[in-house]
This record gives sequence, structure tokens and C-alpha cells, in this order.
Amino acid sequence: MGNMGTGAMTRAYASSPSPRAGANKAPVGWLSLLLVSATGAGCLYFYDAERARRVNAAREGRRRGDNGFQTRVAGGRASVGGDFTLVDAKTGKRFDTAKDLRGRFALLYFGFTHCPDVCPDELEKVAEVVNATTEARRASGATALVPVFITIDPQRDDRKRVAAYVEEFHPTMIGLVGSEKACGDAARKYRVYYRKTGDERATEDYLVDHSIITYLIDPNGDFVTFYGKNTTAEEVSRSVLEHMRDFDEGRGVAAVEAAKENQSPGA
Ligand code: NI
Repeated sequence: MGNMGTGAMTRAYASSPSPRAGANKAPVGWLSLLLVSATGAGCLYFYDAERARRVNAAREGRRRGDNGFQTRVAGGRASVGGDFTLVDAKTGKRFDTAKDLRGRFALLYFGFTHCPDVCPDELEKVAEVVNATTEARRASGATALVPVFITIDPQRDDRKRVAAYVEEFHPTMIGLVGSEKACGDAARKYRVYYRKTGDERATEDYLVDHSIITYLIDPNGDFVTFYGKNTTAEEVSRSVLEHMRDFDEGRGVAAVEAAKENQSPGA
């Protein structure tokens, strides 16, 4: 896993030739993941409009038209996604996404178990999507979508707590824990924003301001797309099923990306 920043470790999102999903119609840069954030206290939206305006203005000239993440940054691809290693809260075993999630689509959600309402709402949505997509694909015998919760509050979210937490939402939901550094590394790969609120030195009583985003990754481990708080379970399910079909029919992220590279000799 050398080659930091480009190549196999990090994947770029390639918008499909005909945007269909409807979930991400507006051009969204990865920096705006910061804006899909809420504070745990009442979970109010966090907006920094002026910064967004400047970031968007700066990016405008560089590239337009993608219906997902901006995929180019100076010197290479924007990096969203990539493999990471944490610990499975239920089994206590090392969980390596490169090994343990390959061959299956997964929904990743980064949050914390003390979150008063946003995380529970989002995880309920994820569970609904898992049930809906499993049901829809049952006849084809396809593997089910894997729901994964990753803590961004390793200080309080220990194995026992996270194992019990994910069980509340879905029997197949995987809960991942780890050290501050390991959880931070995973969050960084997905550009997840999180920050303790209130007294930074508090050890027990605090909330965590964090991005509210659910990421879809494909059986190759490639980041496919993301869904925000306002996308309904039905919309997410529909989009996931479309991406699963695309992948089955050879129109997955890696295939589309490879086709693009072949088309543009200058790239
Ligand atoms: Ni939360």
C-alpha cells in the first residue's frame, strides 16, 4: 500500500455517462462533504457558505459537469475512499476492508454511539436500504449489501458498546472500532469531518460534530457515490440497485474510469 495519494489505494469517482440515480444531481466537490455536517447537539446543520463559495469559485474553472465528486485535483486524482484496517466490534478480530469487504457492495457510515438522533436516524435508513436491496436481489442470488458503522469517537466507543449498538439496527451490521489514529485514518480517507464540541478536554460528556454521509463502495472496494441526510431510504435503495446493475453489467466505477482513460490519449 505505498504510492500515497494516487493510484490503487485511492479511487476517483467517475460519473456514469447518463446520470440516473438522482441522488447527486448538483456538482458536489469533496470539500463540500464538510457542509453535509451536523452538530450532535440538536444536530443542526453546519454551514460555512462563504468558504463554500470561494472553494466552488476556485474549482469552477478547473472542471465542470460531474454529477458527483470532482475527480481531478492539482497533481492527480482527488482521493475519496480507500482501504483501511480496524477491529470488528462483535468478534474482536482485525477487520481489513481490502479482504473482508471484497466481493460485496457496502454502505459505510461514520458516526458515534452517543449521537442523540442523527446517527440513529441514518443507521435506521441504512438498515432499510439493506432490507430493500436484499429483497430486490433475492431472486438473482446476489450477495447482500453490507452495512458498516465506523466510530469517530474511539475514546468512548469501545468494542462492547459498538457491538451492542449496531445490533440495534441490523443483525448484519458490522461495527468497527480502533485507536484514535486508526479511526482517524479511516475517516480521513473518506474525507469525513468530525470534531468534539464543547469542552475539548472533557473525557465523558461531550458531543461530536460530524459529517452525515453514507458512502457506497463496490465489490472492488472502489468508492461509488455518497448519500446525504436528505436522501430517503427509497432513493438510496433505488440508486444502490442501479449501481449494482451497472457493476454486474460491466459499467462499474473501475470500468468507466478505464474507458475514459482510453478515450483521452492526453490523460
Ligand atoms: Ni451523529
